[in-house]
Amino acid sequence: MKIAMIGTGYVGLVSGACFSDFGHDVVCVDKDAGKIEALNAGRMPIYEPGLDSLVAKNVAAGRLSFTTDLAPAVAEADAVFIAVGTPSRRGDGHADLSYVFGAAEELAATLDHDCVIVTKSTVPVGTGDEVERILREGAPGRSHSVASNPEFLREGAAIGDFKRPDRIVIGAEDAHGESVLREVYRPLFLNEAPILVTRRRTAEMIKYAANAFLATKITFINEIADLCEAVGAEVQDVARGIGLDNRIGAKFLHAGPGYGGSCFPKDTLALLKTAQDNEVPLRLVEATVQANDLRKRAMGRKIVAAMGGHARGKTVALLGLTFKPNTDDMRDSPSLAIVQTLLDAGARVTAYDPEGMEIAAPMMPEVEMKASAYAAAEGADAVAIITEWDAFRALDLARLGGSMADKLLVDLRNIYRRDEVLRHGFRHIAIGTRAE
Ligand SMILES: NC(=O)c1ccc[n+]([C@@H]2O[C@H](COP(=O)([O-])OP(=O)(O)OC[C@H]3O[C@@H](n4cnc5c(N)ncnc54)[C@H](O)[C@@H]3O)[C@@H](O)[C@H]2O)c1
Repeated sequence: MKIAMIGTGYVGLVSGACFSDFGHDVVCVDKDAGKIEALNAGRMPIYEPGLDSLVAKNVAAGRLSFTTDLAPAVAEADAVFIAVGTPSRRGDGHADLSYVFGAAEELAATLDHDCVIVTKSTVPVGTGDEVERILREGAPGRSHSVASNPEFLREGAAIGDFKRPDRIVIGAEDAHGESVLREVYRPLFLNEAPILVTRRRTAEMIKYAANAFLATKITFINEIADLCEAVGAEVQDVARGIGLDNRIGAKFLHAGPGYGGSCFPKDTLALLKTAQDNEVPLRLVEATVQANDLRKRAMGRKIVAAMGGHARGKTVALLGLTFKPNTDDMRDSPSLAIVQTLLDAGARVTAYDPEGMEIAAPMMPEVEMKASAYAAAEGADAVAIITEWDAFRALDLARLGGSMADKLLVDLRNIYRRDEVLRHGFRHIAIGTRAE
């Protein structure tokens, strides 16, 4: 199959590279000339484990290429995927669909054959209808199929998720759209990846419902963690105790500083907008969004409280800035609110993140970026673990504490055992367990 991918960000690049690895011919298009130039020079614009070698292998095999030029990329395409960004619209939280509609308009003006156009971007219910209208009005003689194929990959594990998905969702309104997408994903059916074919609007809704559910699950355990702290229970054991119940499941039950990233915050807001526009209240999701927003600054205050309630003149070292490990994505990371809260309280903040510092630095110019966890901790009154990078799981605590002004470890990801931390002479504050 010949595939064009419009938008070469996290989703477009990973999807394009994986489709080419299945054996399809893929051209990835992006308006960002710097991104395309980097890719053509073999440099990855994002950090994603395994992506560089996957891209290099398929470029060398002649199945994957990158361009800023839409027309030749789509000239012979059987399917064109739209994988552009759908950020929150400034001011009201609705998904900003201008990139999606812009891509549809460009396609209407460019395609000179009938094609299957697939939205892979996360888009509110009804967006496919609008894309279809744009194509119909922009290219009256053509008969394109418009389908929805939401993406469920996780940054940091994106290639594995794409190649071994829990399910593939295809939202199609006609047999041609469905059969082309089945063919695109045929290599995965051989791996027995479940495929769910639905109406287009249903597929669009599945993506938002999945993200809202997961965001709610995280927020649920975060609130239970707060209650555990108040009543003297241990949230990790509670999570295990409920997660072993098959009806609940163990995933997304790790208490922490709140969800962030490029999807959950904006997708929950966009779902609420759809709900409000249709006068169908989603009170659980509303509560989730509000609780998560409040939690991020509360985590900053938790660090200040651990230092005795005063941060002025003190130094806090943050380990991890990205919203989760194995990515350099800083979008809506809890670290942004935590840093602001610490600065507001008068603290000096140092930080180390294995991959995120380049992107984080201009977002938090007051923070002093350091070359290692140990360098960040030098002279600090507290070390706070914000992101559970593997590199932080086995720190030499004696070395870390050796250069600190005060040996306080605030573990917002619960990656250290209390007895181990105490053995090294630290005070220890974790999530969902009472400080001793
Ligand atoms: N990042 C994730 O983990 C993830 C997971 C599942 C779904 N999604 C969804 O996938 C979509 C893309 O997300 P992302 O994180 O990859 O975004 P991104 O911001 O990393 O990439 C989007 C890219 O599209 C390009 N672009 C915009 N308009 C264009 C046009 N008309 N022609 C060519 N290129 C254009 C931009 O230059 C940018 O490089 C979003 O809707 C997101 O919600 C993201």
